[in-house]
Amino acid sequence: MKKKFWNNRWATNDIGFHMAEPHSILRRFYEQLNIAPGQRVFVPLCGKSLDMLWLASKKAKVTGVEFNALAVEAFFSENDLQPQQDEMNSFARFRSGDIELLCGDLFELDQAQIQGARACYDRGALVALPPDMRQRYVSHLANLLPAGSRVLLISYEYDQAETHGPPFSVPLKSVEKLLGANFEVRLLTEEDALSTHKGLQQRGLTWLKEFGCLLIRK
Ligand SMILES: C[S@@+](CC[C@H](N)C(=O)[O-])C[C@H]1O[C@@H](n2cnc3c(N)ncnc32)[C@H](O)[C@@H]1O
Repeated sequence: MKKKFWNNRWATNDIGFHMAEPHSILRRFYEQLNIAPGQRVFVPLCGKSLDMLWLASKKAKVTGVEFNALAVEAFFSENDLQPQQDEMNSFARFRSGDIELLCGDLFELDQAQIQGARACYDRGALVALPPDMRQRYVSHLANLLPAGSRVLLISYEYDQAETHGPPFSVPLKSVEKLLGANFEVRLLTEEDALSTHKGLQQRGLTWLKEFGCLLIRK
């Protein structure tokens, strides 16, 4: 999706993807990320996700990347945090405690800017991207993460004929096809999720699976 699409979603508060609670798959499978206290976790396309606060509560350092300034500002103001702000290359950097958000385009990010993070949490990033952007995204992720890095990926499977994305249906087979060359892919959990995704139900979905995978960089 283009930047204009997301800017419009944020400007009109059309952010049904934002969750009021930390994600249950993150809470259940966080330990699979093997993050020792003080180690960094990278959160691509982070929005204003409360998952970042939850990760910091587990003593992880968090680097989120998000190009919409409203989302970044809302993350800090809604959580009563007063970030310090500076610039890092093409990114505006906002920091408070163990959380830093880089406001800019994910595809301009390099390894140095995520400070050697060996853990990554993708909820709402891969599934936010249309098919023609996914290969670029997964190649970029592979370039950013050193061997042995672990990614907790949350994805959806549904009948794409029933509605358009985002979020797109990216079933396990597609995850394996996209990421299998650079990552070992392990399915952690798969759940029927239609009843907890009212917005998608209203868009006409008759079934929806949400699943969590652990990806280990080869
Ligand atoms: C579906 S939302 C998910 C947000 C968050 N992960 C969550 O779970 O609430 C996708 C987010 O990615 C941001 N985004 C999309 N493309 C981006 C890019 N190339 N660089 C940085 N942010 C991007 C959008 O503005 C949007 O906030």
